[in-house]
Amino acid sequence: MGVAGGVTAMDDFLIKFFPAVYQRKLRAKEDNYCKYDNQYLQLFTSSLYLAALVSSFAASKMCSKLGRKPTIFVASAFFLCGSLLSAAAQRIWMIILARVLLGVGVGFGNEAVPLFLSEIAPVQHRGAVNILFQLFITIGILFANLVNYGASKIHPWGWRLSLGLASLPAAFLFVGSVVIIETPASLVERNQESQGLSTLKKIRGVEDVDAEFEQIKMACEAAREVKDPFKTLMKRSSMPPLIIGVMMQVFQQFTGINAIMFYAPVLFQTVGFKNDASLLSSVITGLVNVFSTLVSIYGVDRVGRRKLLLQACVQMFISQTAIGAILLVHLKGSNSLDEGLAGLVVVLVCLFVMSFAWSWGPLGWLIPSETFPLEIRTSGFACAVSSNMLFTFIIAQAFLSMMCHMRAFIFFFFAAWIVVMGLFVLFLLPETKNVPIDAMVERVWKQHPVWKRFMDDYDGKEGVKNVGMII
Ligand code: BGC
Repeated sequence: MGVAGGVTAMDDFLIKFFPAVYQRKLRAKEDNYCKYDNQYLQLFTSSLYLAALVSSFAASKMCSKLGRKPTIFVASAFFLCGSLLSAAAQRIWMIILARVLLGVGVGFGNEAVPLFLSEIAPVQHRGAVNILFQLFITIGILFANLVNYGASKIHPWGWRLSLGLASLPAAFLFVGSVVIIETPASLVERNQESQGLSTLKKIRGVEDVDAEFEQIKMACEAAREVKDPFKTLMKRSSMPPLIIGVMMQVFQQFTGINAIMFYAPVLFQTVGFKNDASLLSSVITGLVNVFSTLVSIYGVDRVGRRKLLLQACVQMFISQTAIGAILLVHLKGSNSLDEGLAGLVVVLVCLFVMSFAWSWGPLGWLIPSETFPLEIRTSGFACAVSSNMLFTFIIAQAFLSMMCHMRAFIFFFFAAWIVVMGLFVLFLLPETKNVPIDAMVERVWKQHPVWKRFMDDYDGKEGVKNVGMII
């Protein structure tokens, strides 16, 4: 994901696969807002998300029937094939096929990895462990940007290096998927109780895991009775986690994060770092992204999910509206900002990325992975993943045209969404900090002033009997 933005800006790549775009780039004297507005180029970027969207449903089936571990293995195999094919591509169909293979990898990986993490983590550290997923996304983006910068100076095949080096993290994932254990919940779900128990003892490092194991077993009993998880997902009692899971992902994309990440180099150029603008902008935003994710790892199980999200809404709203206002007033005629203002925009972009990185970035993945009862966990999470991919696709496909037409108003557009998501968290998002993953129905949904009304047809059996109230 991180590599694509940089590669589509490389002339050698455009000449080989999108000569029309290259010609247009040479001829047209477009302004900052309309530079890259091209549907085909956008399709190259977004084909990955479409493939991920569709494949997350297949991944959900595989996750339930065969386990989390083999699903991660399959993801890595697709990543490997996709990155190697894209590095070797000679024709446009090859590069698109490679994007589709990578997309399938994203679909399988994004389905299985957050679930895996939430299921192996001890309850009091579940948030932190799950956020390792987002931490490595941000590290991946940072490295991808650095690689792109170096590769853009190698002609005419630098883009092959960028795309090909994605096989390194793919290889790590491949090896990792072979050495990791299967989660206890997935083992018990597939009738391997004794392995489930010994795995639980192993990952907790203690012999006395009876209470937690009992919880998992009861959740699995309910899961086994469910013949068609997608049908069960449509029941009234499944609506609370489904609505929350899907909306968390939709809102994550409507923060405008991917728009900001893309636009950062153009903004930063105006500060005066002419030649190294793209390197600096990606390194600055990339580092802010990585380090602020660490804040989330530290805070999520201490201050809780709601506080992080609400604080971030305020910070994101202020930075988006301020950036919009500055660009609206000052970027009108001249197409450039004076240095002081441009510096301010850089600070605002960092403030935005920072607040995203400790809130909607990681929690968009964490919350849907921890709120579904086991019988609909993989199917529910697949809906969440595919919603993320759909809206990432929509933003990737529409953003450049939107920016071209809406200009600075695009920042107000995202700011308005931030208000909506703040209200959503305030009134509809329950706190899930310190609640065991297999006790969410009793402890969270049945207690919530709004969502408890949906729970009357719930007939699952959560293992809440042997474990004391934690919240
Ligand atoms: C989002 C991506 C985004 C990234 C930025 C992820 O959680 O799903 O769309 O690019 O965070 O760090």
